[in-house]
Amino acid sequence: MVPMDTEDTPPDKEDDMRAVNAPLSLSDHFGFGTMIGLSPAMERVFSLARKIAASNATTVLITGETGTGKDLLARELHVNSARREQPFIEVNCSAIPETLLETELFGYEQGAFTDAKGRRRGLFELATGGTLFLDEIGYMTANLQVKLLKAIEEKRIHRVGGTHDLDVDIRIMAATNRNLEQAMRKGLFREDLFYRLNVISIELPPLREREDDILLLARHFVNHFCAEHQKERMVLSPRAERFLMSHRWPGNVREMKNAIERVVVLGESQIINPEDIRITVRHETTLVQPHGPGKDRIVLPIPETGIPYTEIERQVFGQVLTISGWNKSKAARILHIPRPRLLRKIAKYGLAPAIPVKDEE
Ligand SMILES: Nc1ncnc2c1ncn2[C@@H]1O[C@H](COP(=O)(O)OP(=O)(O)OP(=O)(O)O)[C@@H](O)[C@H]1O
Ligand SMILES: [Mg+2]
Repeated sequence: MVPMDTEDTPPDKEDDMRAVNAPLSLSDHFGFGTMIGLSPAMERVFSLARKIAASNATTVLITGETGTGKDLLARELHVNSARREQPFIEVNCSAIPETLLETELFGYEQGAFTDAKGRRRGLFELATGGTLFLDEIGYMTANLQVKLLKAIEEKRIHRVGGTHDLDVDIRIMAATNRNLEQAMRKGLFREDLFYRLNVISIELPPLREREDDILLLARHFVNHFCAEHQKERMVLSPRAERFLMSHRWPGNVREMKNAIERVVVLGESQIINPEDIRITVRHETTLVQPHGPGKDRIVLPIPETGIPYTEIERQVFGQVLTISGWNKSKAARILHIPRPRLLRKIAKYGLAPAIPVKDEE
């Protein structure tokens, strides 16, 4: 449990303001920079992070489900390292097409391709002296994986269309919410690159496995957003806290942070009740409990305003697909419907997996 009690704070206004500003000092005690946590799992993360920050050059691989804080950790590792005055450059490898990503990373020389007007420095060069954070590395194409490995091993890069190599001094951090071991087995991720990146790896545990952090973070976010949105101090009721503790948080810290921001912005009372939070949590991911055969359940929170039938159908299809790991044949069997009908519903409701999955057929 968390050794803080926001409900005992005296009603005095100045004290209120101090409480609102409290999170800064909080994080000094329970975390790493602005990253907060006091669960044993996060304590281990922070102690490893302090050591990594102190060493200047090691490559770091950060893994964890979506919303567990991979970006935040990479930034904190950089600002707590000797490279803090140098650039921190982030690139999302899944968002940029292959050819563009190559020139983004390595730059190009005049005439390298038809539109190449002049030369351009790539992110490797721009990050010199600092940190290059390769986000969503699991989705980088095989061709680029080879070039990346070469650049990391040799600490040299080659601009596209260039004739000579350039030395670069950067620290590489990479992050992924994809299971790289699995991707390697399927031949989608190179083993040599994996071992090169995995010199030190930090795995961020899902929020549901950090019981001691849930209320610490929730109270921190309430204070933080009250200050940001200039709202009077708000507190979570004990019932709301029990609700937060029992939710599965498939979107992890990001989901909770967003849910609390919405409560703070929309809330009219200073006490936050579970009803206020429930209506803000994304329904399609709420309370799916994949615990094996016979134990899966679909839960549909019904807002005060009611719920249209089509919304129920959309949620049922979405949740069953989540439970079946987006195996469509399995989802169709669970629902006792032919597969083509399931496919029509997927198209109708625009359903998509959180992470791209390989089709089963
Ligand atoms: N321990 C923490 N303390 C405070 N804020 C946190 C913590 N962990 C995550 N956050 C906040 O939660 C949000 C999501 O974190 P972040 O973007 O780092 O997740 P991520 O793991 O990179 O997710 P994705 O895989 O979807 O990119 C951010 O606003 C971040 O600041
Ligand atoms: Mg991220």
